[in-house]
Amino acid sequence: MLNNFPLWPVQASTLAHRVDALYIFLLVIGGLMALLVCTLLIVFAARFRYRPGVRAEQIEGSTALEITWSVIPFVVFMAIFVWGSAVYFSERTPPADSTEVYVVAKQWMWKVEHAEGQREINELHVPVGRDVKLIMTSQDVIHSFYIPAFRIKQDVLPGRYTVEWFRATKPGVYHLFCAEYCGTQHSGMVGDIVVQDPAHYEAWINGSPSGPLSATGEKIFAELGCSTCHRSDAQGRGPDLQGVYGTPVQLEDGRIVTADENYVRECILDPGSKRVKGFAPIMPTFQGLVSEEQVNALVAYLKSISTSKPAEGARTSARTATPEAPGKAQPNGSQVQ
Ligand code: CUA
Repeated sequence: MLNNFPLWPVQASTLAHRVDALYIFLLVIGGLMALLVCTLLIVFAARFRYRPGVRAEQIEGSTALEITWSVIPFVVFMAIFVWGSAVYFSERTPPADSTEVYVVAKQWMWKVEHAEGQREINELHVPVGRDVKLIMTSQDVIHSFYIPAFRIKQDVLPGRYTVEWFRATKPGVYHLFCAEYCGTQHSGMVGDIVVQDPAHYEAWINGSPSGPLSATGEKIFAELGCSTCHRSDAQGRGPDLQGVYGTPVQLEDGRIVTADENYVRECILDPGSKRVKGFAPIMPTFQGLVSEEQVNALVAYLKSISTSKPAEGARTSARTATPEAPGKAQPNGSQVQ
């Protein structure tokens, strides 16, 4: 009976039971409070009802009672706050060695590019039991990438990257919804999350005709002429980009930022805004000249030439070359929201 009337979506990620536990706790607390208030309402209404000849007696309050009803809710609310924060921060912080997938939203579809080079539309193939980080942006309006079975939802914004991650725990096909009203066919902006066991996933992901995304990025890097200024011999008019990704960058205006996905993206589309110290403002903007997919490929390429975060395609060789890359742990400051 309950199987035909599920109150909860299936729990198919490592986060799902944690989100549910918190939600059930809130429901129970809320239910108990509602019950308490209703019971007292009825009890007091009956007990202190009007009786002829009986007068109400003025009282001066009760310190013990007031402390009790202040301290108990305070403790309960603080528990909810700490618990909620713990769930929130683990949901917001992708593990450093996650598999990376780029998502581009547009009215009204989801375009997915894997670091290995596979592309798909309104579908996302992922392996069971591996951390997957989604690096998402929108070509037009605000969308929201929502997988109920994984208990994750994140707005996808034009002009910047947002990130969400999950680790699927059960093979199967799960709903993907757009959870932000984005126009006429918003309700049709849906898809399938296909969770496969590792063997099937490897077979699927290695069937890519186009090679890794970072290789596509390298090609674009050469085609757009980036390589004439950003030279690896440090003689170029732009900064050498080798090993830059994931590291702190000193800017002309004195700020220090981490070269994360959003920083790389901003440098391509609005080079003047966060210019690296010691370089002239000569880089032209590539706004309108490169598609979201091309920006993603460039980001993947920059990752692949940085030791701190080897790209998917280069992972195997990087691992053998530097078994313990010192910069492997990404600083938390580099997380995009
Ligand atoms: Cu996209 Cu709603």
